[in-house]
Amino acid sequence: MNNFDALLARRSIPVQYLTDPGPDDAQLAAAFELALRAPDHGRLQPWHYRLIRGAARTKFSELLVGRALARDPATPAPQLDKLRNRPLQAPLVIALSAVLRQDPKVPEIEQLLAAGSAAMNLLNAFHLQGFGAIWLTGPSSSDPGVAAALGCQPNERLLGFMYVGTISAQAPPALARVARAPFVEEWRG
Ligand SMILES: Cc1cc2nc3c(=O)[nH]c(=O)nc-3n(C[C@H](O)[C@H](O)[C@H](O)COP(=O)(O)O)c2cc1C
Repeated sequence: MNNFDALLARRSIPVQYLTDPGPDDAQLAAAFELALRAPDHGRLQPWHYRLIRGAARTKFSELLVGRALARDPATPAPQLDKLRNRPLQAPLVIALSAVLRQDPKVPEIEQLLAAGSAAMNLLNAFHLQGFGAIWLTGPSSSDPGVAAALGCQPNERLLGFMYVGTISAQAPPALARVARAPFVEEWRG
């Protein structure tokens, strides 16, 4: 498979189909090396990653459930179960964030785009290494209480959580991609 075909085959793997083992430290280092090839105006490196592995996943799971209840004490039990179980299913969760600086040349949106581009590179890196991954957000990722517990600084914005692991044999095959919306057009002035 050439590089182009390999990237075309990337798909997100739902967390319930991610299993052990996750990437080891050398694979992680290589994946981050690729992630950080993202375009980055002003070389601000506006990204930060927190790896949540092993026993820390239980603490993260408790954090998500605790914060969901703090936001809404009537959160339905199935929703709480989902929040509780998800971090325990995948061997690795990466909290993605953007570190935003005041910069005369690089507005916040560009820093967010750079951090988002790096996250996409990270998804591709895991895919090329043969792992499955998915980028999820939801109310937890915009909850200041979650950000604070993760150690985010005031100028840091959580961008979501990437779940990573080995793709289980039960994972469904890739869905056919939807027909392309007419999102490319020729501009002739
Ligand atoms: C910033 C961002 C946040 C996302 N958050 C969620 C989410 O909370 N829940 C969800 O089901 N999919 C979410 N997705 C979509 C999935 O990551 C994934 O792209 C989608 O399931 C389509 O799969 P594909 O990547 O194979 O096309 C998010 C995607 C992005 C880029």
